[in-house]
Amino acid sequence: MGEQFIVKSQRSIARNIYELIVTGDKTEAMKTPGQFVHIQIGQGTEHMLRRPISICRVENNELTMLYRAEGKGTQFLSNLRSGDRLDILTPLGQGFDIHQTDKKALLVGGGIGVPPMYELAHQLKSIGKEVEIVLGFNDQQDVFYENEFNALGKTHIATANGSYGTKGFVTDIIETLDDDFDTFYSCGPMPMLKALTHQLSDKKGYISLEERMGCGIGACFACVVPADNDKGYVKICSDGPVFESGALKL
Ligand code: FAD
Ligand code: FES
Repeated sequence: MGEQFIVKSQRSIARNIYELIVTGDKTEAMKTPGQFVHIQIGQGTEHMLRRPISICRVENNELTMLYRAEGKGTQFLSNLRSGDRLDILTPLGQGFDIHQTDKKALLVGGGIGVPPMYELAHQLKSIGKEVEIVLGFNDQQDVFYENEFNALGKTHIATANGSYGTKGFVTDIIETLDDDFDTFYSCGPMPMLKALTHQLSDKKGYISLEERMGCGIGACFACVVPADNDKGYVKICSDGPVFESGALKL
């Protein structure tokens, strides 16, 4: 059983992408960007797995989440309306440490890995750090929160098919940037995280994995990935989802 939240608003912000804002007292505990919430799907459907969604922004008792409506669980979320109730386990996982950067951080988000970069950018700015942001999408219709990120730091957009911004991947943009950041933080699909970790191997970096999960609280082993530690693995839900780049066998 999680905490009760009330839906404040929901709107479509790009193709199949929704912004869902909920209110609840437990928002006070959500202090670390990169942590996630685990949402119960439906009423009386405890047998159905919760869905993990990143904290995109927390402010004034409100939690903002951005998600892509695809399968059963996220379709359910997209039908929620103002006043509806949600049961949410939160805050879960280990997030990004904003104090790892000395002066300037590069934030890199891909697709549904973009949302946690938003709270991260806010918190880095709040402690006086500079941020530059690179976001990757497949197509122009998938792009969201460009203006919101631009308000926090110089923001670059890549689309795989070239319909908007730079044609190609986030790594193509990074190749052209000044090398004046000391740390990178990233969240996105595995191929992107692999390419980035390789490209920025001389930098301090932190990556967040959005892979399949079960319980979300370290009990079921559904989320293990191989790692260079004593156990030979980590659990994404409780050891992560954020890890130092290079700590995992991607
Ligand atoms: P279904 O196909 O109905 O899902 C079936 C099962 O597979 C469910 O148990 C579901 O949880 C699991 N599943 C399927 N794809 C994924 C996936 N990529 N990751 C984890 N579980 C999956 N998505 C967003 O759109 N926005 C976010 O901010 C976001 N943050 C995430 C943070 C973390 C830490 C993790 C692990 C995932 C995050 N995801 C996010 C991915 C999101 O959880 C999945 O897209 C979603 O669970 C799929 O559910 P569904 O009902 O659409 O699909
Ligand atoms: Fe159950 Fe990670 S999801 S252990």
